[in-house]
Amino acid sequence: MISVESGEQFHLKNDSFSYICGVVDRRFLAHLYWGAPVREIDPRGLPRPATASYLTRIPLSMEGAGVSGSGDRGEGYPEAGGDRGGRAPLSADALAAPEAPQPPAVSLDLLPQEYPAWGTGEQREGAFAVVYADGSEASRLEYREFEVIPDAAEPEFLGLLRQEHELGRVETLRIRLADPRGDISVDLYYLIAERAPVLIRWARFINTSEAALTLIDPASASVDLPVGPWEVLTLGGAWSRERHILRTPLAFGGYSVGSRGGATGHQSAPFLALCDPAADEEHGRVYAVLLAYSGSFEARCEVDQFEVPRLSIGLQRYRGHLEAGECFETPVALLVSSRSGFGGMSDDLHRFLREGVIPKRWREAPPKVVINSWEAMYFQVSHDRTLSLARGGRDIGAELLVLDDGWFSRRRDDRSSLGDWWPNEERFPLGLAGLADALREEGMEFGFWMEPEMVSPESDLCREHPEWVLQIPGREPTLARSQLILDLTREEVREYLIDTVSTLLRDSGASYLKWDMNRNMSEAGSLNLSRERQGEVMHRYILGLYEILRRLTEAFPGVLIEGCAGGGGRMDYGLLRYCPRFWASDQTDAIERLEINYGTTLLFPPEVIGSHVSTVPNHQVRRITDAETRVLTSLPFSFGFELDPAQESEEERLRYLEGARRFRELRQRFSSCRFRRLLGPLSPESRGRRLSGEPAGEVAWMLDGGDEVFIFYYRPLTRSNVRPRRLRIPGLTAGAIYQEQETGIRYDGALLGQVGIVVEPGPGDYRSTFVTLIRTGADRP
Ligand code: DGJ
Repeated sequence: MISVESGEQFHLKNDSFSYICGVVDRRFLAHLYWGAPVREIDPRGLPRPATASYLTRIPLSMEGAGVSGSGDRGEGYPEAGGDRGGRAPLSADALAAPEAPQPPAVSLDLLPQEYPAWGTGEQREGAFAVVYADGSEASRLEYREFEVIPDAAEPEFLGLLRQEHELGRVETLRIRLADPRGDISVDLYYLIAERAPVLIRWARFINTSEAALTLIDPASASVDLPVGPWEVLTLGGAWSRERHILRTPLAFGGYSVGSRGGATGHQSAPFLALCDPAADEEHGRVYAVLLAYSGSFEARCEVDQFEVPRLSIGLQRYRGHLEAGECFETPVALLVSSRSGFGGMSDDLHRFLREGVIPKRWREAPPKVVINSWEAMYFQVSHDRTLSLARGGRDIGAELLVLDDGWFSRRRDDRSSLGDWWPNEERFPLGLAGLADALREEGMEFGFWMEPEMVSPESDLCREHPEWVLQIPGREPTLARSQLILDLTREEVREYLIDTVSTLLRDSGASYLKWDMNRNMSEAGSLNLSRERQGEVMHRYILGLYEILRRLTEAFPGVLIEGCAGGGGRMDYGLLRYCPRFWASDQTDAIERLEINYGTTLLFPPEVIGSHVSTVPNHQVRRITDAETRVLTSLPFSFGFELDPAQESEEERLRYLEGARRFRELRQRFSSCRFRRLLGPLSPESRGRRLSGEPAGEVAWMLDGGDEVFIFYYRPLTRSNVRPRRLRIPGLTAGAIYQEQETGIRYDGALLGQVGIVVEPGPGDYRSTFVTLIRTGADRP
């Protein structure tokens, strides 16, 4: 998988891709190729712009150049207020006159790089910045050595792969770069697995100087790609509109998305893709970077003067203090390149997450049908009401009740009690344990909601431990949802949370925990850390969170932790290791959810995406949709209910029961099916929508299990006098015969790929339909 040619060209290769970088002039680590597997690369054959004398130039040999590349700092800079009389720090012969004949040189302005350092000949954005003890901010990274590690060498709290992954053999390449002045070295890590279509990258900084320095916003990966034309695709939105598809051409300049609030956020997923302007679900090149991290991040693309795009992803708002000899490891990034559009990209990511990241236990035990109390009761929860909700849930096919917000201390609304995690005695006289027992007697499993990272100013915990809150002395704390954030950089806070959550889990015997987080950070300071370390607070917080979740999941392997952050405000691969299921959005309207689920499946397989049937009129948008469409919108995902069955009609309850029954029958198969989006914003058909007069906003997807294919079609708005909707079903076996279960019609796999099936969900708006194709075994001779 990793081969090294003459110690200078590094080729990472498996059946899915080749990724090649090489050392130029024995000094600079250049990016050479990323894409379909190739046998080899001769760098002389790669297109590159002509050099010109007005670009930055580094003579091929430093000898005699007189530039300090040897660690010699001369006299350094004057102290504040000092003056050295304008003495030139560089010797004159280092500066070639413009008209002089140019000696052979490397121009960092032109070199496609693996991990660019800004300020010493590179004018594009660097992959990091360092402020050195002398106040300077320019770095140079040069190649030093490499090592092939026959294993995964991921960072302890930030690694991604589960121990018992199914990706085959794994190797890690470490390439050491160092600043010739001797201040820092940077180890670049590249992890490749035999059967993973994804490359994992991260970086480790070492302060090799004798003084402390400041490291700013290190990227986990950076890569310079071939010239476009390109478009940028990201997933973004806001609360209740998460992960909508945003796409824009990028000809010159920069485009970035990210978050600065200590969580990945509702606004942007930690992901950015470059794609051919014509790329769709099935066609075109896509290069994507993702960050397996749950805090502030930036994903960026900068197109330079020669139209070369630089793609990078990493930390944002990180200002780390590194003492002499101290190290810092970035989170890990995932790089995926597809030659079959966004469908190919999602396919690669889903496969990788299923086989390498999501705990095996949860893959083998797909999600239970949940009934959650939030939209049924909001804060008005009690033992009796919860019990009757559970009974109603059981009668429509739910298996597990999740008691949401409102069960603890004096919590009656969102203004108090976070941190005081004991059941309200009046409303839950038997405690959570008593409630859980009563539910089990009714044949229901029990789960409950917590927001462990948070504290209400109006709480005993906050009064007892004001120092446990993230804060900046002298600054008024900004509230959001009337709450503050606990300082997870503090060991005693982590221990307190582990202890509190463990006690509740143990006492109640719960098998499910909904872990919510409802605000981003402000005044992100810590009384626990020194002045120099305040810029590390948001990152250290996330490391603290991972430690808590790691210890809890180790201690309670049978408890499923559902990730939630005001819906999908922190849905990322960093948490996926601990949370095999996410509440993807507080938006429960079936039609609004189509767009959210569509975007979410770009990155996540469907079983990870919690999508519940709620009542009508919908609580977020007041829309009224029929029960069939609400059920079918949730069915391919992690199915459940967000309603009070007692308030629903008999007809609706029957439809819900039928949906739950179907989900329970199919869920095991669903979680090993290949998920494919058939119709929606990125499908080839969408481009001609206006001309063909087809209805707007249609969505379709399928779960392809080889012998069984499950197809879902949704039509938000109808149109008059249009031709019947045909749905092409790509990727089936040509020559194999598939029979439509509902009608008995038989199709050849080739015909399904070219012509498709007709789907007709009936008259009116907000309609949907479900089709099952069964492979008959009657293949063409
Ligand atoms: C936000 C979550 O997304 C909701 O599902 C619910 O749990 C509320 N918080 C409770 O406060």
